[in-house]
Amino acid sequence: MQGFEAHPSMRVFGTMAVPGDKSISHRALMLSGIAEGVSEVRGFLASEDCLASLAAMRSLGVRIEQLSETHVLIHGVGMRGLQGAGGPLDMGNAGTAIRLFTGLLSAQNFDSRLIGDASLMKRPMERVAKPLREMGAEVLTQNGTPPVDISGGRRLRGIDYSMPIASAQVKSAILLASLYATGPTTIEAPAVSRDHSERMLKSCGVQVVTEGLRTTLHPPERLNSQDMTVPGDFSSAAFFIVAGLLSAPEEGLLIQNVGINPTRTGLLDILQRMGGNIEVVNSRQSGAEPVADLRVRASSLRGIRVPKELISLAIDELPVLFIAAACAEGETWVTGAEELRVKESDRIAAMSAGFSALGVAHAALPDGMRIEGRSKGPVFSGGAVDSFGDHRIAMAFAVAGLRAAEIIHIRDVANVATSFPGFVPLAQSVGLAIREGGPQETGP
Ligand code: S3P
Repeated sequence: MQGFEAHPSMRVFGTMAVPGDKSISHRALMLSGIAEGVSEVRGFLASEDCLASLAAMRSLGVRIEQLSETHVLIHGVGMRGLQGAGGPLDMGNAGTAIRLFTGLLSAQNFDSRLIGDASLMKRPMERVAKPLREMGAEVLTQNGTPPVDISGGRRLRGIDYSMPIASAQVKSAILLASLYATGPTTIEAPAVSRDHSERMLKSCGVQVVTEGLRTTLHPPERLNSQDMTVPGDFSSAAFFIVAGLLSAPEEGLLIQNVGINPTRTGLLDILQRMGGNIEVVNSRQSGAEPVADLRVRASSLRGIRVPKELISLAIDELPVLFIAAACAEGETWVTGAEELRVKESDRIAAMSAGFSALGVAHAALPDGMRIEGRSKGPVFSGGAVDSFGDHRIAMAFAVAGLRAAEIIHIRDVANVATSFPGFVPLAQSVGLAIREGGPQETGP
């Protein structure tokens, strides 16, 4: 179990770029794998999560060449060209991979078994299995969690599904299965969630129609291959957006080439409402996805009540938003975020435990948190916090070093590599004083 030491540091500055988007990288592998012909993907995120998807696609018979870490050629086998893996597919820590593969594999003519690490084996899977069963798939979970056993050879029908949670993973699993259904499928969502699957399916020539919260997919004959450049991951940029707001001087911190798909950028809206100075510059289109550079400057943040409709647009950024809220004047309320309880860790409990250890006044709520912020002086006392094996908790507390009185020791950070390879050197390059250490250096 490795740890981080986040030393008190004064400021971040300079120009940087974050690695490719995790959600888009997973989808690029799966859709290109079942397309006709060769797809070329640049900016691929070579993180542990996406490499689990890459290995799974290879086990299913897709030839994938990694010309460099981030430059991938995928030799599509066509919609009906996948072959049984002949053993369990290990999704590691990747929730997106296990949910999306469950959808894709429930429509194949061979059996599959999906497993993962200790955290993934506790994640809820019935949210995906239930609608797939309605389509005619045979999907078994173990008391609602992995291993997931999928029987092949089922004929799937299109469904009209009212999704109880605003989950892009559930939506995408159904969309992948519905590619193979005998008729169109419509999914109605309670709120907007990320739409990368819809955009990429359209790029591959599939008819997907979105009207408000309803998405309809018409099963295609085939998928076209795609050449694409994956934008920088907004969720990775989020740690540096908050770092910049806490400490970047006048010229600011410039984060280049960030995906700004509006279904992902709720954090920008929230931080701007809190008084954050974030400039979106050089907006452009990269294939189906919008990208821009973000210039962030130190700002006096004020606590707010975060509107519930922004929660699903900022779901992965809430841990680092909590750090920003601790450094804002007054109270911040986050509610309607009960999904945080079933992420890579229970993120409400994990942030609450860390705040208690670092002297931040707060109350954990069943569906969020109330945080009493402090805008002057050091906000975090220093001490030891646990990431609970959750990459985003580890990186959020690394940013807290900017307002810490003493060193923050962060335990169990190995999973940062699931989404953000190279986080520590990149953070150091813009001024964050983070060191990697073994467990002996991290304990109190
Ligand atoms: C993701 C969707 C979100 C997000 C996860 C990635 C995706 O999960 O938290 O990190 O790529 O579709 P839910 O859709 O379950 O909320």
